[in-house]
Amino acid sequence: MCGIVGYVGDRPAAETLFRGLRRLEYRGYDSAGIAVHEGERISVLKRKGNLDQLEPYLGWFPRRGGTGVAHTRWATHGLPSKENAHPHLDCGEEIAVVHNGIIENFQELREELLSRGHRFRSQTDTEVVVHLVEENYRGDLLEAVRLALRSVHGAYALVFMSVREPGVLVGARRDSPLLLGLGEGENFLASATLAFLEFTRRAVALENDELVRVTKEDWELVTTEGKRLERSPYQVPFDVTSVEKGGFADYMLKEIYEQPQAWQDTLRGRLSRSGVLRIEELEEDHFDLKRIRRIIFVSCGTSYHASLLGRYVMENWMDIPVEVDISSEFFYREPRLDPECLVVAVSQSGETADTMSAVRWAKNCGAPTLSVVNVVGSMMARESDGVLYTHAGPEIGVAATKTFLAQIAAIYLLGLYLGQERGLLEPEFIRHTYERLEALSSRIEEVLQDTEMVERCAEKYCRCEDFLFLGRNINYPLAMEAALKLKEISYIHAEGYPAGEMKHGPIALLHPGFPVVALIPRDGVYGKMRSNVEEVKARQAPIIAVATRGDSEIRECCDETIYVPEVEPHFNPVVIAPAMQLFAYYVAKMRGCNVDQPRNLAKTVTVE
Ligand code: M6R
Repeated sequence: MCGIVGYVGDRPAAETLFRGLRRLEYRGYDSAGIAVHEGERISVLKRKGNLDQLEPYLGWFPRRGGTGVAHTRWATHGLPSKENAHPHLDCGEEIAVVHNGIIENFQELREELLSRGHRFRSQTDTEVVVHLVEENYRGDLLEAVRLALRSVHGAYALVFMSVREPGVLVGARRDSPLLLGLGEGENFLASATLAFLEFTRRAVALENDELVRVTKEDWELVTTEGKRLERSPYQVPFDVTSVEKGGFADYMLKEIYEQPQAWQDTLRGRLSRSGVLRIEELEEDHFDLKRIRRIIFVSCGTSYHASLLGRYVMENWMDIPVEVDISSEFFYREPRLDPECLVVAVSQSGETADTMSAVRWAKNCGAPTLSVVNVVGSMMARESDGVLYTHAGPEIGVAATKTFLAQIAAIYLLGLYLGQERGLLEPEFIRHTYERLEALSSRIEEVLQDTEMVERCAEKYCRCEDFLFLGRNINYPLAMEAALKLKEISYIHAEGYPAGEMKHGPIALLHPGFPVVALIPRDGVYGKMRSNVEEVKARQAPIIAVATRGDSEIRECCDETIYVPEVEPHFNPVVIAPAMQLFAYYVAKMRGCNVDQPRNLAKTVTVE
């Protein structure tokens, strides 16, 4: 978490850094700060709260080019406060640093530094690093950082500047993302390409244990051993217009409405004229898909719900057992992994620390790893043996919406592909299913055009403090996702449950002020869901049914009905998801919540 930016060039430095921070605010927003090199000193501005608290003071900085670093924070060590906001300075106030990650041995380092006379101004783990660099500085910032990092354990993306070396930035990374943006006569360092996208699309990704020295005309990449490296820049595959709100009130709403496109883009161009499904990314040598005897999905949050759905699809289409683990729990059960077990990591950001650790652990055990990722060039994409990209475009709202649907599209695709490669699915089935999948984009569009009932339900129930979402079979993960969406943006307590499990406990909670949302499309478990709806009704809890258009029977026994288009049963989640995202969105807006930046959350969770 946290967003960092560094700038060197001729634009007004503070303003340029601030624009970068705005794009990274999704990574954390409890405090923020900017430091700019001015003459013989470093001027620092910090504020508690989000960037709106910082903006009115930007005029303090002169409107001229220069060198600077900036930070938007999601607290790990030390409360959100002005003192703990970055950038942090050394004792002599000659070096500034911004940091994303966690310095694990900071207590020990801090005690050592205190005993050598250093004074600390914050409670953060970060501050030790700038003091270590100060101790190692002999006229070369890159070398000082390299030496200082020898005693640092943990995860970091760091950017430094020093008054002794005007026009120079030094970056370093281990396990947290750091990207170099290459402009004309100006350069950037940032946690994500979004921060410099309006100025340049040429980027270089730093790998673990690499450092970079950047001036406005040049850059030099070295390892922590001091070895020089060559690396070609790449072109970021989208431009700045794709990260604007485009007339929508919030990023979340815009992204919900981008789902038909995200769905199409993720599926596009995979079926050859001869009817063979092609996923070039998986045709590399390291994947002998016929040899795979087991699949394990690892993921967190919304991506975990997409993975759960994947289990239903894959087990249905294939002969292999599929397991799904929450990444942060993966190690504890010590799963036995071997080269015949494919570990599939699902992650929007491709930077989630828990999922990254699960991937590394799987690799150490010799299991092939595949990541389903949205951010091109992210750490997970680079470190996995193979990557299947979702093409949802940048997602800024903290709540995952379009990337969830894109993950589902990728997982259906993967299921079909594995079935094809293992000779289990007939070509005709594959072609038919692929075409049906493509056609779903119009069904998603229909859900997004017909929001009246969703809004009405939101209005009627937005003051309730508890919700229960029920689903069976492939819609059970959707019940969990709908509950997560509601709780994360509206702060309402919500639970997603397998409908059959309700009678084993949660039914005790029900009362007339506790609405139950029943995901009950026409499918093979419709009858069983009907019985559960009756059980709820008997406890006088209000029921909102999410049902297949044309189902008039359900209307009779529920308080409200949200209709979704009729699709094949195993595609129901695709039309239910947007309806439930909109429901959460309207409820949160009606309660006055900031849907793009919910409290306590960050878009990318780079700590374990
Ligand atoms: O980037 P990832 O998909 O790995 O992130 C995983 C979760 O942090 C994420 O899905 C989170 O639950 C969403 N913000 C929920 O909307």
